[in-house]
Amino acid sequence: MSALTPVAILASGRGSNFDALARAVREGRLAADIRVVISDQADAPVLEKAARLGIEAICIPSGGRSPEDREVHDAQVVEALRQRGVTWVVLAGYMRVVSHVLLEAFRDSRGFTRIVNIHPALLPAFPGLHGYRRAFEHGAQVAGVTVHLVELEVDAGPIVAQAGFSLDGCRTADEVEGRGLELEHRLYPAALNSLLKGRFRVERMPKGRLRVVPG
Ligand code: GRF
Repeated sequence: MSALTPVAILASGRGSNFDALARAVREGRLAADIRVVISDQADAPVLEKAARLGIEAICIPSGGRSPEDREVHDAQVVEALRQRGVTWVVLAGYMRVVSHVLLEAFRDSRGFTRIVNIHPALLPAFPGLHGYRRAFEHGAQVAGVTVHLVELEVDAGPIVAQAGFSLDGCRTADEVEGRGLELEHRLYPAALNSLLKGRFRVERMPKGRLRVVPG
């Protein structure tokens, strides 16, 4: 059996992606050892879900949102991750903008971060909050999900994997979200598993954006 990569999951809320990732680990579809789940919110359901599965779950309270506050908070997170030997950081509904402190602590020798995020839209469309709702409200016929490496500019790091789905028959934004989450729960473990195997390279696209390709 190949070695499991020590990862941490950072999440602020409900934790359905955490659940999907933990299930993928149990079922042997994701070669990771989830060492710790960290939340900035003490009452985040994800902490209870992790604890119930016997995974260490801790809260590192966020304090403020100024750039300095974010750096102080991220330094505490980095310390916790180092103590646990974590080599990849997985954001799953983490409602904080990460600072250079976290990014630089997990930058690899090729210059890419070992921090990955899942976003509820087909980037570069709908960066920021409420991707599914905005796709619905704009009358889009297709919405989607993006897994990407994290960089300082929010939702702008190299794209690792994307998948779209039809909004056909969706009457509310909640229905769109339900469909999107189902897709997230399949896409995230699969994309993460390829990343952890390290068999990828990064290409620069004509508009300057990077993308991750197998190889
Ligand atoms: C997901 O829609 C994810 O794409 C976004 O935040 C949401 C988190 O959901 N980044 P959950 O906490 O994993 O259920």
